[in-house]
Amino acid sequence: MKLGVNIDHVATLRQARKTFEPSPLFAALIAQQAGAHQITLHLREDRRHIQEEDLELIKKAVHVPVNLEMAATDDMKAIALRVKPNRITLVPERREEITTEGGLNVVAMKDHLREYIKDFKEAGIEVSLFIEPEESQVYASKEVGADAVELHTGRYANLFNSHKIEEAKKEIQRLKESSLKARSLGLRVYAGHGLTYKNTSLLVESLRGVVEELNVGHSIISNALLWGIERAVKEFLQLLKK
Ligand code: PXP
Repeated sequence: MKLGVNIDHVATLRQARKTFEPSPLFAALIAQQAGAHQITLHLREDRRHIQEEDLELIKKAVHVPVNLEMAATDDMKAIALRVKPNRITLVPERREEITTEGGLNVVAMKDHLREYIKDFKEAGIEVSLFIEPEESQVYASKEVGADAVELHTGRYANLFNSHKIEEAKKEIQRLKESSLKARSLGLRVYAGHGLTYKNTSLLVESLRGVVEELNVGHSIISNALLWGIERAVKEFLQLLKK
């Protein structure tokens, strides 16, 4: 199974001071060097973390595929068609949310999405839709012309994290059934959201060979920060000795 690494929260930390560090570009290059199969970034309407310049720099410098998460708006379409990421993932976006809370309601947005996706197909950009693992959303994704779906694993993650393992296993079944349905329709299948070092193994056991790629952000960036503190402090102490 492949791993896409979402580097949004490197930018969250930078934006806390509106300075130049830490750099999402460096983070993307190091993730690539470590073996990440794909780099994801979400250019949100409110620009709370990733900025347009990050997208431009990362697209130029990174050689693994770049996946741009975005809302299905005209402004975002113009940016995406100019920068040409390898893949776009359309997500629902609400200003007040902390993170992408639910999947895109493709069933309710069919007409808009069918039109919206056309330009990306012409530009040779893969289109993925971030959806809940529901059959109706899978069928609608195929109908509007998507190339792929990314199944929302947030519900699974929440169940696992609150120790509801039997319910979490049922959610894995739902993810598996939706994946198989999507594949039978010729869609590529990815999954992600809320995955951590603790809750991912159980998911992978059941979805290996069914889901092509997992997308992980917050947990990887969180651990990168903690695992790196020791070295960062030691290096600063060295500066004081000189
Ligand atoms: N996939 C999609 C579509 C997302 O919106 C996000 C969060 O930005 C992720 C995956 C990664 O989620 P997390 O940061 O919880 O790993």
